[in-house]
Amino acid sequence: MDTCPGPHVEMEGDAEYRRQLNLFSSCCTEKQAELVRLGEILNKVRSRERFLDIGAGGGHLTIPLSGMFQSTVVVEPNARQAEFLSRRCPKFDIHNCRFEDAPLSPASFDFVLCSHVLYYVNEALWPELVARMFGLLTPGGRLAIVLQAPVGQVADLFRAFTRYDVDLLGLWHALNETYGEENVEVRTIRNEIWTESLEDLTDMALFLLLDARFRERRDEIRGYLERECRVEGGYRLIQEEVLLAVGKSNPS
Ligand SMILES: C[S@@+](CC[C@H](N)C(=O)[O-])C[C@H]1O[C@@H](n2cnc3c(N)ncnc32)[C@H](O)[C@@H]1O
Repeated sequence: MDTCPGPHVEMEGDAEYRRQLNLFSSCCTEKQAELVRLGEILNKVRSRERFLDIGAGGGHLTIPLSGMFQSTVVVEPNARQAEFLSRRCPKFDIHNCRFEDAPLSPASFDFVLCSHVLYYVNEALWPELVARMFGLLTPGGRLAIVLQAPVGQVADLFRAFTRYDVDLLGLWHALNETYGEENVEVRTIRNEIWTESLEDLTDMALFLLLDARFRERRDEIRGYLERECRVEGGYRLIQEEVLLAVGKSNPS
């Protein structure tokens, strides 16, 4: 594992973050639904040699997708996640740093994934980072970026307690302008978060809201979820996500 210079990302008191992440993974359909959509994009990738996962987290996507490639490179700034992945998958080439600091060039990849990571990066830097991601693709390769959609119950939850400020539409527009509409694809992913208890759903909402300061508003958030998400037998929160994929043309 390669530990690069630069700031590392520590998620909310790591133990609590990992507990929330595990709970999230066990009570939602997100990763399965996302894998299906990513599989549709992967069908169009010309060669399956090298896969780069940017912000791999716990490896819920990296590990199943890596089986389709000869080699997998991971960039993960969170030391615990990177260390877990290096133990779990010793063959991965892991850079424990931010994508901004990862020494990847001039390596080229057939598939580059950046799933639910751009929220952690200042939006002003997105064009530069996305250009770098695209630049790392081999001809015939694909870049896939997944982000929370501006519609759906999770977006409403954001609007109720903070604001929804992920400029997904701006990114989509910029990709079309830069790489040509014919090379950009959009797919939606629907994630159903289902819990038996209101407390678990409140944990999930706090996980999605990212900022630990929302924990002080737990009672308020619990009340909102009780009103909005109660269904027979439990609680359900629907999250809509968008997958933006950009292909790099083969040389003519
Ligand atoms: C919400 S998790 C997503 C994990 C995984 N990609 C998925 O979709 O299941 C976000 C991950 O991005 C990582 N991350 C945050 N800032 C990053 C950056 N600048 N470069 C690369 N990864 C970053 C975090 O450490 C965290 O593991």
